[in-house]
Amino acid sequence: MSRCTINAKRILGKRNKMIYGHFLEHFHRQIYNGIFDPGSPFADEDGFREDVIEALRQIKTPVIRWPGGCFVSTYDWKKGVGSNRIQALDKTWRVVEPNTFGTDEFIKFCRKVDCEPYICTNAGTGTAEEMSDWVEYCNLEHDSVFADLHNANNKEPYKVKYWSIGNENYGLWELGGKSPTEWGRYVLEAAKMMRRVDPDIELSAAAINPNLDVSIDGAPNKMSEYMEWNTNLLSTCGHILDWISIHEYWDEIWFTNDLATYEQVMCYTLKVNDSIERIEGLLKAMGLERKIKISFDEWNLRGWYHPYLWQLEFEKGKKEYLSERDKNDDNSSYTMADAVFSACFLNTCNRNYDIVGMANFAPVVNTRGAIFTHKGGIVKRTTYHVFDLYVNYLGDTILDAWEENKEYFKATNKDGKKVEIDVLDILATCKQESGEVAVAVINKHPKEEKSLSLVVDNFGEIGKCHMYYLSGKEENSFNDVDHNDVLINTVDLRNEINNDGKDISVNLKPHSVNIIVIGK
Ligand code: AHR
Repeated sequence: MSRCTINAKRILGKRNKMIYGHFLEHFHRQIYNGIFDPGSPFADEDGFREDVIEALRQIKTPVIRWPGGCFVSTYDWKKGVGSNRIQALDKTWRVVEPNTFGTDEFIKFCRKVDCEPYICTNAGTGTAEEMSDWVEYCNLEHDSVFADLHNANNKEPYKVKYWSIGNENYGLWELGGKSPTEWGRYVLEAAKMMRRVDPDIELSAAAINPNLDVSIDGAPNKMSEYMEWNTNLLSTCGHILDWISIHEYWDEIWFTNDLATYEQVMCYTLKVNDSIERIEGLLKAMGLERKIKISFDEWNLRGWYHPYLWQLEFEKGKKEYLSERDKNDDNSSYTMADAVFSACFLNTCNRNYDIVGMANFAPVVNTRGAIFTHKGGIVKRTTYHVFDLYVNYLGDTILDAWEENKEYFKATNKDGKKVEIDVLDILATCKQESGEVAVAVINKHPKEEKSLSLVVDNFGEIGKCHMYYLSGKEENSFNDVDHNDVLINTVDLRNEINNDGKDISVNLKPHSVNIIVIGK
């Protein structure tokens, strides 16, 4: 039996609430016919889906990044404000953008969800001036034509704190992409102008994740280019940035939609820490680890499926590239594999509390989001419940914990290689107010229930213990419009307390995410 010892007095750091953020892009049914659906019986007076807002409040969504994604690289924010909205061709996703959802609607939505807005600027076809105009529109009270435009429609300045310059501008798929040498200088000029408008904003810029699969069509394919992009950005702009943005989708199925199996997904859990470690190493090498944090502002187990778009030969018709996107909305794709993987990601970010300051699950609804909207309501996919567990049951500080008698199982990854995977992933936390210890334990094993002995040092006698757990009958269990096979369950573990309150034995279901709350 594995054994985990937690030291209740050894606090490693504070748990960061911003890592439970989400991302919203003008793509497929995320905005129109997603969160913003004035015709729906679930819409409020402003056209926003109330059921979605309520669900996002329940998981205490701290921040939403908008409007892209690749979409932002040709987005003209000025067409989407005021009373005269100008319809435009979205050249990224090759659809018509009505611009009826723009900055004002985004801010209103965030206020209703009670989260921070995080705006990503157009660093593809946009200019430093357009970015700083956007800051003027959002954050200034007067002395600006854009503040006046804002005032004509709204009362208070929005005071948007979080901004980022660009989205994946290193990729040849990105419209208006840049070279590594162009990027640093371009970001510097944009950052200078944005900060002169409002020195209080926090700024990020697109960096390359060193784990990016070099086989993606159009990506830079030399290690030197990765290094050059990031080092040039950091050496030119390290002093003026607060964050750098990285993205990762482990199961890269943009063109194929061939979903990795449960076991293949578990192999990806071994890679989650890599990109953070490598970026942290770079920041340390450049003496910036105390100045700049990682904003992991797009992440999900699986890449979104949108074939043909990023290829240079456009031989396909609209029908093929548009209707293919519907396949992202097949709820049977979002199983316990997604839930277990997402929990591993969150454990990793929590362990890296000193360097990962923000993370945004991509996206917030539909496509591969945690919530699916339909005419009759919403489906909370398996990943939704992971957020629910982590934000509502874990503590606010991270405790030291170590595992003995670690178990491993073998699986074959998507490349056909045998990989050894640690069965449990454990993160211990403490609720400072109540003094309770709350432990997130993930059992990655596809089929086997596992037993764990939890010992809490420096705690006193354990008097009560509850476990909140998420599992499904099968590792491929999922939720859909007509069934909820994966929900949070609770079990009282008082009878499992042993040795005069020194330790507890817990049984963990296969492919499960568990939060064990221990009190006196
Ligand atoms: O597949 C969606 C895209 O993934 C986002 O627009 C982009 O930022 C990321 O590469």
